Amino acid sequence: MAKALGQRLDEAVAFIRGRTKHLPELALVLGSGLGDLAEAIEGTAIPYSAIPHFPDSTAPSHKGVLHVGELAGVSVVAMQGRMHLYEGYSPKDVVFPMQVMARLGAGTALLTNAAGGIRDDFEVTDIVLIEDHLSLAGLAGGDPLRGPNDESVGERFISMNNAYDKNLRAAAEKVAGETGLNLKSGVYGFVSGPSFETPAEIRAMRTLGADLVGMSTVPEVIAARHSGMQVLAISTVTNKAVSSLDDDHITNAEEVWDAAALIRPKLAGFVEALLPRLSEATQ
Ligand code: HPA
Repeated sequence: MAKALGQRLDEAVAFIRGRTKHLPELALVLGSGLGDLAEAIEGTAIPYSAIPHFPDSTAPSHKGVLHVGELAGVSVVAMQGRMHLYEGYSPKDVVFPMQVMARLGAGTALLTNAAGGIRDDFEVTDIVLIEDHLSLAGLAGGDPLRGPNDESVGERFISMNNAYDKNLRAAAEKVAGETGLNLKSGVYGFVSGPSFETPAEIRAMRTLGADLVGMSTVPEVIAARHSGMQVLAISTVTNKAVSSLDDDHITNAEEVWDAAALIRPKLAGFVEALLPRLSEATQ
């Protein structure tokens, strides 16, 4: 019989604790384009493939290494690369690492991703604070908490109001103001991918209230909230989502990676300035 979630989490945590003495307070998920920031973490690097029950990361430019150590004076555990539904993982597999990081002791999660801009005033290279989400995949049965609930992880039913913590968002706005970053804010629409959206889907998402669209983050945020973590999430706009058949633009992965590479220094600087302040905001 398959082991219970709590037992699998304990085995993964015991393995990581055997490799490092760091006690991380903050979990970082470094999505497309920001993985390199993990190299600045002083501590231990563990390949996902070595950690019991950890799914491996197969997406291009997602390295699949867990880093535990210090970044900008904060004790962190960071995922250099994440799992996505489009790789074929179940929603539960996708969130296992977040649940491990919570059990390791991280009380706060900071997630980053690449996203398509739906709102007209979002430009490529913009950095956008996620204030809320629209989980198209989740509402249709893809919620990572679907199925038996392990009470040692969290409660059966959880509220998702203010899932993106108000205090942490205020701290991020403050740091942006101080560092001269034009930080925007918006609602992230989650799709499973890997096909990009049709113009009709983008128009539908805009009507429903999504400002951005992407293939990650939301399952992990739901799991982080379930595990009692406070959450902050940041999107980088890597492309403008196409909303009209008259627009001949062909969205493609190269465009997303090229833009992510362009944004990387700006986002890395922001994240490093933000980390100590998030740590203060949650004390
Ligand atoms: N759609 C979905 N996911 C994405 C996009 C997009 O346009 N850009 C980056 N990730």
